[in-house]
Amino acid sequence: MLILGIETSCDETAAALVADGRVIRSNVIASQVEIHARYGGVVPEVASRQHLLQMIPVVERALSQGGAAWSDVDAIAVTYGPGLAGALMVGVNMAKAVALARGLPLFGINHLEGHVYAAWLEGRQPDVDPGFPLVVLVASGGHTDLLLMEEHCRYRLLGMTRDDAAGESFDKAARVLGLGFPGGPAIQRVSQGIKIEEVRQELPRAWLRGTLDFSFSGLKTALLHKAQEQGLADGGGASRPKEVAEMAAAFQESVVDVLTAKTLAAASDAGAKGIILGGGVTANARLRERLRAKAGGLPVFIPSPGLCVDNAAMVASCAFYHAGRRNADGLDLDVVPSLKLG
Ligand code: KG4
Ligand code: ZN
Repeated sequence: MLILGIETSCDETAAALVADGRVIRSNVIASQVEIHARYGGVVPEVASRQHLLQMIPVVERALSQGGAAWSDVDAIAVTYGPGLAGALMVGVNMAKAVALARGLPLFGINHLEGHVYAAWLEGRQPDVDPGFPLVVLVASGGHTDLLLMEEHCRYRLLGMTRDDAAGESFDKAARVLGLGFPGGPAIQRVSQGIKIEEVRQELPRAWLRGTLDFSFSGLKTALLHKAQEQGLADGGGASRPKEVAEMAAAFQESVVDVLTAKTLAAASDAGAKGIILGGGVTANARLRERLRAKAGGLPVFIPSPGLCVDNAAMVASCAFYHAGRRNADGLDLDVVPSLKLG
């Protein structure tokens, strides 16, 4: 079954062809990151316009790179939430138009569930199916959710952030330190040369004991105050890259410590057979390394970094598992900007 996936929830216009939920035939992403970087974050109206400009060429490229004609496509999958309303609308309208014109089944997909299914793609993992339940950490620019995946397409929410998402906190911390947008990759890059054991900067960790919830806004404020006290905020760090890098590394370590500990605690409490990571923050090298090192014998499935960030292959993969379990959506499918999972 060949599914065309479409993703426009934030600032990537993406389309992909995936066979049988696992094999990527093409995975095209037109990133708007350089356009939004000028403003220090995603500007919703600019994102919608860019999606409009890119949508048709990106879909055409996904077909041609996948060596497929429209007649080879069996279904259309599209992200219908959560995300920016105007951005989601471009993808959903494109998907509906194609479904109508070609008489194809249409599957609206939850973007967060898409991030889960990135772990199934391309057989990148030797054994992607240890059975259920699995504990899933989805950490992105808008969400930090811990979920119990009880079986395909069925989830229970175990914990979530009470304030900022992990990715959002990386983006804000990078802005304070003058490292640019998006913050996660920038913080990872400057932290790479730093030996964390030698860093004396101490930043707090919000454990919220007894829950699987997260909180990152206190950490963000602590970083802001420290950076101001040490003259590293508001451009002050430009001439002191080593100190900025140490502060960035301390920040990254705080986020990674909490994400790792809570994910492992959730897996242990639930008797999970494995752990799945997904979402842009799980592209973070330190998080990947720490979780793998601490998981003991528990299988940890982490998509390659390029599939952790937003893409349409994950949307197409997810739809394959929906297709066997529920009816397709009608042409009345609408965007749901605050859609939840679990
Ligand atoms: O999943 P994603 O691409 O888009 C959303 O659905 O939000 O996640 C984007 C977020 C941004 O906040 C970005 O700073 C963060 O993921 N991110 C990272 C890394 N790469 C992207 N955070 C930490 N380390 C990274 N290497
Ligand atoms: Zn995402």
